[in-house]
Amino acid sequence: MAMLLIIHLIYTTIRLIDKFNGFITMYVCLCKGITERQVQQAIDDGADYKALREELGVASDCGQCGNTCKQMLKASQECAFYDAQVPQVA
Ligand code: FES
Repeated sequence: MAMLLIIHLIYTTIRLIDKFNGFITMYVCLCKGITERQVQQAIDDGADYKALREELGVASDCGQCGNTCKQMLKASQECAFYDAQVPQVA
Protein backbone atom coordinates (compact mmCIF):
# COMPACT_ATOMS: atom_id res chain seq x y z
CA MET A 1 0.00 0.00 0.00
CA ALA A 2 2.79 2.40 0.91
CA MET A 3 4.53 1.56 -2.37
CA LEU A 4 1.41 2.45 -4.34
CA LEU A 5 1.18 5.75 -2.51
CA ILE A 6 4.80 6.54 -3.33
CA ILE A 7 4.27 5.69 -6.99
CA HIS A 8 1.15 7.84 -7.06
CA LEU A 9 3.00 10.79 -5.49
CA ILE A 10 5.86 10.49 -7.97
CA TYR A 11 3.46 10.26 -10.89
CA THR A 12 1.44 13.25 -9.65
CA THR A 13 4.60 15.30 -9.12
CA ILE A 14 5.85 14.53 -12.63
CA ARG A 15 2.49 15.52 -14.11
CA LEU A 16 2.49 18.78 -12.15
CA ILE A 17 6.03 19.62 -13.23
CA ASP A 18 5.12 18.84 -16.83
CA LYS A 19 1.94 20.95 -16.58
CA PHE A 20 3.76 24.00 -15.23
CA ASN A 21 6.89 23.56 -17.30
CA GLY A 22 5.73 26.29 -19.67
CA PHE A 23 5.62 28.76 -16.82
CA ILE A 24 9.07 28.01 -15.47
CA THR A 25 11.77 30.35 -16.67
CA MET A 26 15.15 28.74 -17.05
CA TYR A 27 18.07 31.09 -17.39
CA VAL A 28 20.83 30.03 -19.72
CA CYS A 29 22.94 33.12 -19.18
CA LEU A 30 22.90 34.56 -15.71
CA CYS A 31 25.28 37.39 -16.56
CA LYS A 32 22.94 38.83 -19.20
CA GLY A 33 19.66 37.43 -17.89
CA ILE A 34 18.93 35.47 -21.08
CA THR A 35 16.42 32.64 -20.85
CA GLU A 36 16.31 29.31 -22.63
CA ARG A 37 13.26 30.50 -24.55
CA GLN A 38 15.06 33.57 -25.85
CA VAL A 39 17.98 31.45 -27.04
CA GLN A 40 15.70 28.84 -28.61
CA GLN A 41 13.65 31.54 -30.35
CA ALA A 42 16.82 33.06 -31.79
CA ILE A 43 17.97 29.62 -32.96
CA ASP A 44 14.57 28.95 -34.52
CA ASP A 45 14.90 32.29 -36.30
CA GLY A 46 18.19 31.08 -37.80
CA ALA A 47 20.81 32.43 -35.43
CA ASP A 48 24.19 30.73 -35.27
CA TYR A 49 26.60 30.91 -32.33
CA LYS A 50 28.08 34.20 -33.48
CA ALA A 51 24.63 35.72 -33.85
CA LEU A 52 23.62 34.49 -30.39
CA ARG A 53 26.65 36.23 -28.95
CA GLU A 54 26.08 39.45 -30.85
CA GLU A 55 22.31 39.68 -30.55
CA LEU A 56 21.69 38.28 -27.08
CA GLY A 57 25.07 38.78 -25.52
CA VAL A 58 25.41 35.20 -24.36
CA ALA A 59 28.93 33.93 -23.66
CA SER A 60 30.22 37.50 -23.71
CA ASP A 61 30.90 37.91 -20.01
CA CYS A 62 32.00 34.92 -17.91
CA GLY A 63 31.39 32.47 -20.78
CA GLN A 64 29.76 29.79 -18.65
CA CYS A 65 26.67 29.68 -20.87
CA GLY A 66 28.62 29.12 -24.09
CA ASN A 67 28.51 25.33 -23.97
CA THR A 68 24.78 25.30 -23.23
CA CYS A 69 24.14 27.53 -26.23
CA LYS A 70 26.32 25.31 -28.42
CA GLN A 71 24.43 22.23 -27.21
CA MET A 72 21.11 23.91 -28.00
CA LEU A 73 22.37 24.79 -31.49
CA LYS A 74 23.58 21.22 -32.06
CA ALA A 75 20.28 19.74 -30.85
CA SER A 76 18.38 22.07 -33.14
CA GLN A 77 20.54 21.09 -36.13
CA GLU A 78 20.09 17.40 -35.35
CA CYS A 79 16.31 17.86 -35.16
CA ALA A 80 16.34 19.60 -38.54
CA PHE A 81 18.44 16.76 -39.99
CA TYR A 82 16.08 14.06 -38.72
CA ASP A 83 13.03 16.05 -39.81
CA ALA A 84 14.50 16.15 -43.30
CA GLN A 85 14.92 12.34 -43.27
CA VAL A 86 11.25 11.66 -42.56
CA PRO A 87 9.52 10.68 -45.78
CA GLN A 88 6.64 12.92 -46.80
CA VAL A 89 3.26 11.22 -46.79
CA ALA A 90 1.01 12.42 -49.57
S1 FES B 1 26.46 33.12 -17.90
FE1 FES B 1 26.45 33.86 -19.91
S2 FES B 1 28.20 35.15 -19.99
FE2 FES B 1 28.11 34.52 -17.94
